[in-house]
Amino acid sequence: MIERHQVLTWLRETDEQRLETLWHWADAARRAHVGDAVHLRGLIELSNHCVRHCGYCGLRAPNAQLPRYRMTTDEILACARQAVAFGYGTVVLQSGEDPQLTTAWVTDLVRRIRAETPLAITLSLGEREPDELSAWRRAGADRYLLRFETSNRALLNEIHPPQPQAGRDRIALLRVLRDLDYEVGSGVMIGIPGQTYDDLANDIELFRTLDLDMIGVGPFLPHPETPLGAAQLGPCPLDQVPNTELMTYKVVALTRLACPRANIPSTTALATLNRASGRELGLQRGANIIMPNLTPTEYRCLYEIYPAKACLYETAEQCHGCLMRRIVALGRAIGTGPGGSPNWQARAQQPRASAPQAGVRN
Ligand code: 5AD
Ligand code: FES
Repeated sequence: MIERHQVLTWLRETDEQRLETLWHWADAARRAHVGDAVHLRGLIELSNHCVRHCGYCGLRAPNAQLPRYRMTTDEILACARQAVAFGYGTVVLQSGEDPQLTTAWVTDLVRRIRAETPLAITLSLGEREPDELSAWRRAGADRYLLRFETSNRALLNEIHPPQPQAGRDRIALLRVLRDLDYEVGSGVMIGIPGQTYDDLANDIELFRTLDLDMIGVGPFLPHPETPLGAAQLGPCPLDQVPNTELMTYKVVALTRLACPRANIPSTTALATLNRASGRELGLQRGANIIMPNLTPTEYRCLYEIYPAKACLYETAEQCHGCLMRRIVALGRAIGTGPGGSPNWQARAQQPRASAPQAGVRN
């Protein structure tokens, strides 16, 4: 098991030869614990409306420059059918924090995807109330993604102002999700202005403490229409984590060593920093998941959490073909079935005090 002091040493490592050892260990742990299959999750970006004021995200409510959209149930179902046609086992329904995606509307959507397809359903709809999370779980949602962004509470409050009436923070919500028997995912951004190496080592420790099933990490990419967009990262104090491609690989690799049985995506933010081979290098340094975008192209460019996102102008078919080719070229297999993480599978097999409320499909 990797210790905190080792994590800190690796985060500051610059020698390419020694880093090869880290990549090798992470790749071996990935192969031993989650195997060679790369699971594909079809991403559907439902709505770019958001009520929050996050300092880093282009969807923030005060960004008046951004035209807003919300997909209809029929449009979403068409994307889900496309996921089935491409052979994906899961759809990820993601949006800004949009109260107009009501409890009942999302419940109906989840039920319809469950009824009409064999897909596993991952929700990523922001901070919602425990009773809504419970209703969606009962309707058949399998997984929930909610990044805690940084374990540094003071930094988080600066970049992600809490809702005045919020009863729970994200860490508490992750525990609620766990109690509701969701497969639980979280993650952080790398190189947030003000984020130190100690913070990042704490983030990785928290992944382990929370016993996460899915962990997504990606570089912070400044968006000009946000308060953090103007923040210059360099020249920076020695403690500031850089928002670089190399630092992202290190965090992917160390996350694999800390949480060997989790599902870890090679993220679009990483592919944005290196379009030619970012996704592949992520997969070779600990990651085992790719999330091809299924959002119709007319909406895709409006889901601008950060600028110049990879795959903005490609169609779902183009991304599908491109990603399949890239995975096969690495000598890795395309995953079949829902692809739940071994971490989750081990937990699902343990006897529980209260029985799960929806069928487990892993
Ligand atoms: N740069 C990189 N990642 C970002 N996210 C939001 N804004 C940015 C940005 N400017 C990430 C957050 C969020 C996820 C959906 O996207 O981690 O949880
Ligand atoms: Fe979208 Fe390659 S993944 S074009």
